[in-house]
Amino acid sequence: MRVLALETSCDETSAAVVRREGNVATLEGMTILSQDVHRIFGGVVPELASRAHLATVGRVVDHTLERAGVTLGEIDGIAVTQGPGLLGALLVGVTWAKTLAWREGLPLIGVHHLEGHLFAPVLEDPKVEPPFTALLVSGGHTMLLDVPAWGDYRLIGQTRDDAAGEAFDKVGSLLDLPYPAGAAIEKLAREGDPARFTFPRPLLKGVAEADRWNFSFSGLKTAVLRAVQKSDDVARDRADLARGFQDAAIAVLVAKTADAARAHGRDLVVLGGGVACNGALAAAMRTALEGDARVAVATPKLNTDNAGMIGAAGSWRLLAGERHGPELEARDTLPLPGLHAPTGATA
Ligand code: KG4
Ligand code: ZN
Repeated sequence: MRVLALETSCDETSAAVVRREGNVATLEGMTILSQDVHRIFGGVVPELASRAHLATVGRVVDHTLERAGVTLGEIDGIAVTQGPGLLGALLVGVTWAKTLAWREGLPLIGVHHLEGHLFAPVLEDPKVEPPFTALLVSGGHTMLLDVPAWGDYRLIGQTRDDAAGEAFDKVGSLLDLPYPAGAAIEKLAREGDPARFTFPRPLLKGVAEADRWNFSFSGLKTAVLRAVQKSDDVARDRADLARGFQDAAIAVLVAKTADAARAHGRDLVVLGGGVACNGALAAAMRTALEGDARVAVATPKLNTDNAGMIGAAGSWRLLAGERHGPELEARDTLPLPGLHAPTGATA
């Protein structure tokens, strides 16, 4: 089946054509239009995001079909991000998708944004299949999941405060980097001295069993703030501060994910979400799991927000026979379908 997918949950207007045969999902064409307007505000302005989506969504869809070399007549279903995200922004994609599905008489599926992130690596590697352990790290979420099957997501850990991407962005603003700052921090950290700043690794040592797989990043962010305040030359120390912060964040993400994968006996670890673009994170994860588990990460354009991942997840749900009707509603908060309460380790 061939699916047209839309993603408008935040500040990227994206459409994609994904073809799925069984477990193999192939990206036939994709457009990601990033909204530059937010840069001057240092964060995404929801109302501006909605307006920009509305102004461009039609053209983004047309351009994507052209790029894929298909017509609407060759599309078998429509997938769209239902939530979570900015309500006004989501509303543009959902309304567009519902209208198109109704006009063309096509089945419609609303997709959870995080399930999209989980499916992203499938587009490049059909061998990415459950069971696996997943680390989802985006601007809004940090979740550690055990995934015995697609659609069966066991929450084994999450952040108690800031999301991992949020921590990168907040540290970025302390270091005067433009929003979002994750990629800039990674670049700066490469030039930084790892020995100059050693920041805390929150919830890593001597934690209660209940927090074994949970994360906390707000204390780390405060430690960086203190170091910035103490520095007599932040411009000189920037790369070292970025390195110290990134090393601490990665150390915690890697240690907990590797421990969870081993405890659940999984030999595949999937990284998803914008922070999974971080090459140092993927490299450290591979080193930590060497001999025990393979680490699957999509290329950066499929890890940050994009419609390809929504098409990969949506086509799986459509093939399983799921459908949404015209009552499908955009939701700013939305539980991940199939998410179970935390369960204990099996080892
Ligand atoms: O998944 P995503 O595109 O949007 C959300 O669903 O939130 O993730 C965006 C987050 C931002 O916080 C951004 O700073 C972070 O991903 N990010 C990175 C890198 N590239 C993007 N964080 C660390 N290293 C990177 N290379
Ligand atoms: Zn995302």
